[in-house]
Amino acid sequence: MKSVVKDSNEERDRKVFALYEQLVDIEQRLIPTGLHIFGRPSSAGEKKDLLKMIASFDRPEAGAKAIPEELLDNAVREFLENGIDAAVRLTGEASRPVFNLLETVCTKLQTNNEIDSLVRALRGEFIEPGPGADIIQNPDILPTGRNTHAINPYGVPSAAAFARSEVVANSLLDRYKNENGRYPEAMALVLWGLDNIKTQGEGVAQALWLLGTRPVRDALNRTTSVEAIPLAELGRPRIDVVMTVSGIFRDLFSPTVELLDKAVRLVAQLDEPGELNYVRKHVLQQMEETRCEVDEAAVRVFSNAPGNYGTNVNFMVMDSQWEREETLGDLFVTRKCFAYGRDSKGRGFAGREARVAMDRALSRVEATYQNIDTFEIGLTDVDHYFEYLGGVSKAVEKRAKARPAIYLSDSLSREVKIRTLEETVRLETRAKTLNPKWYEGMLKHGFRGVAEIENHVSNTFGWSATADAVDDWVYTEVANTFLFDEQMLERLRDLNPHSAHSLAQRLLEANGRGYWEVDEDVLERLREISRSLEDQLEGVA
Ligand code: BEZ
Ligand code: MG
Repeated sequence: MKSVVKDSNEERDRKVFALYEQLVDIEQRLIPTGLHIFGRPSSAGEKKDLLKMIASFDRPEAGAKAIPEELLDNAVREFLENGIDAAVRLTGEASRPVFNLLETVCTKLQTNNEIDSLVRALRGEFIEPGPGADIIQNPDILPTGRNTHAINPYGVPSAAAFARSEVVANSLLDRYKNENGRYPEAMALVLWGLDNIKTQGEGVAQALWLLGTRPVRDALNRTTSVEAIPLAELGRPRIDVVMTVSGIFRDLFSPTVELLDKAVRLVAQLDEPGELNYVRKHVLQQMEETRCEVDEAAVRVFSNAPGNYGTNVNFMVMDSQWEREETLGDLFVTRKCFAYGRDSKGRGFAGREARVAMDRALSRVEATYQNIDTFEIGLTDVDHYFEYLGGVSKAVEKRAKARPAIYLSDSLSREVKIRTLEETVRLETRAKTLNPKWYEGMLKHGFRGVAEIENHVSNTFGWSATADAVDDWVYTEVANTFLFDEQMLERLRDLNPHSAHSLAQRLLEANGRGYWEVDEDVLERLREISRSLEDQLEGVA
């Protein structure tokens, strides 16, 4: 610590407490400790961790209450060693339903139909579908080895998802307000298909809350409409929301796309003051300034052209095919500037190119956001988070002439947490990439494991490229852990020299592009390692 002046006791306690909270955050993170091996049931250790997570949530549908944290470890161990009755003696009769649930989960975890089902599918047999969800959120996805069925888009958002999302939307706005002294006038949201299947539409519900609307069911119990929540009840302004939905979302949730578009149009028409209804404020402004119709000014739901998927921002980053960062944001808009919804005459415009409208909508955005809802996949596990949330943030930066605040929610923990992108990247780095439990788990898989480590570093680099959200220490520690530790370097070299070489090259690129400030001797060491790996690959060494 640099501070020379001694902190007051209060200040010291505050810092120690903040540090404690961060350590708990990392400790509580559920990390994958290896890749799934097709056809193999979970090990005893994995099973225990999973059961603990499942038991730490209330399950009203199973009549089960969460087991208190301080009892969790002992109770689950007791359950696994001595059965339900023994565990109940520890935690009280009221928690019997939890252990009944754990027993069902245990049995299903032992059943692994993956290879059988694959063989049956190859024979052309029917594979019974099961729900698509996260195992912690919905243990009914077990046993594995089934087809995933989606949900009825007309059921989205479910009542539970809508209720949960109020807290998330409020926390998100509170966080922005605490940091900026006011609400954001406009936000850009990323919505994915699989996530909204898993959560029955939490992302959709969050968008509706931000707009200050609630879903309305028709006589057939289908969510086909929305109504405005009165401002007095909402207690804050309606936020203008620009939604970029994935191609998968567009395909699976076509009625939901229309619902979101309808919500924006409804809010734009409300007779309310602009300072309490930013949608209306912006729509009227745009109609006046550009002499356009409401149908042009109220477009907020964007996706790819029909039949197209993805932003390609990830490919451009991974292949180092860009010179200026703004190219990444421009590519995002080029791919995603197709508007979906219905005009004021009720005519659908599924996939109309609307680049000017999207540029304009993004130019007002002050914060970007994506709901993270799975225990399995985080910010640095795949390149999709940075291609979407990073891509839209970079597009906003140029169009709004300011970098937006970038947030993620974490509906993984018991209480809702909103984190900035920077905080989430740090957490992912500590919990995964630099965590020996994680990388040793990966290295057990040999060639593929090294590729996973390299992937994580490249995905982290994606957050530098699209959002400048990675601290220098992250790259420094990656270099120290994987390349400057001689034993580790030897292991990587033996298992997968290709990925080890890419890792070294990516670190050099991070420095070359200005994301990692580091001394010349470190760079020289990296270049040396990279050269020796190259020699090895070419069979020179
Ligand atoms: C989706 O479910 O919408 C999605 C899946 C993978 C990458 C991007 C989006
Ligand atoms: Mg930096």
